[in-house]
Amino acid sequence: MGIYPQSLLFERPWQDFFFYYPFLWLDMPSIWERIAKKQYQQFSPEINLDGYPQYYLQNFHYQTNGYLSHMSANLYDLQVEILFNGMGDAMGRRILAPLKQELEGLKRESGEKMRVLDVACGTGVTLKLIRAAITSASLFGIDLSPTYLRKANDMLAANYEELPQLLQANAEELPYRDNYFHGVTCVFLFHELPPVVRGKAIAEMFRVMKPGGVLVICDSIQRRDSPELLTMMDNFPAIFHEPYYQSYINDDLEQRLYDAGFEQIRTENHFVSKYWVARKKG
Ligand SMILES: C[S@@+](CC[C@H](N)C(=O)[O-])C[C@H]1O[C@@H](n2cnc3c(N)ncnc32)[C@H](O)[C@@H]1O
Repeated sequence: MGIYPQSLLFERPWQDFFFYYPFLWLDMPSIWERIAKKQYQQFSPEINLDGYPQYYLQNFHYQTNGYLSHMSANLYDLQVEILFNGMGDAMGRRILAPLKQELEGLKRESGEKMRVLDVACGTGVTLKLIRAAITSASLFGIDLSPTYLRKANDMLAANYEELPQLLQANAEELPYRDNYFHGVTCVFLFHELPPVVRGKAIAEMFRVMKPGGVLVICDSIQRRDSPELLTMMDNFPAIFHEPYYQSYINDDLEQRLYDAGFEQIRTENHFVSKYWVARKKG
């Protein structure tokens, strides 16, 4: 109770969803062809691939042009809601309670305006939720995809609240100074990173976070938490082309967080998602 306004439950981009739904179907033949030919690193010639890490140049979820086209950005949120039977937004909302609770404590102690960074912000859905729940915070988002950032900017600018600062950047090298953010969030990134990169991203989140700051991660459930869902987890990477998912479900992210210097690490599982909450020693 009191975490976020009830109206947030119904604030989805319905017009956008209705408009783009037919495009999902129009995209299907090229997806089927890609699956049949096992072509998972396929990009249209007009898309500039310079400067992206190799692991990123994938047709994740068989998406046409991966994360690098405007159409992919326009279809993404709708695809997520279809994939999770309408639970996508609800899974994201689960980060709000621990984030808000921890930031309220920090604000009481320091009196500062809270700064929150969402790493791999995609089309801005998590920033929109945080903005509604923690109205006084300054928000920042980074993502590697310029087209997803443009979509995020459009979506977030549709309301008159403060616009988060969005930057194109790699989670492995965050373009911020040390000890800057009170809160860092990251939703559904880690299962799309190779193991070494997961470690680098966590180290960067630690570096840019203020002592006493809070990290909240949301991602897929993992093997050891939900043995009853193992068959689903084992089939998921093949059905949706997720090349790093198998290593992700076996990865000990708690240990990675401890190794980076985080403490008070706790985890929760809800539906098919898992949450890590951790603090940087104050
Ligand atoms: C599964 S989507 C999740 C997007 C968003 N957090 C959400 O919940 O809707 C993964 C996002 O991570 C971004 N991404 C992947 N690798 C990245 C990296 N190394 N640095 C920054 N962003 C990355 C992609 O561009 C994409 O927007």
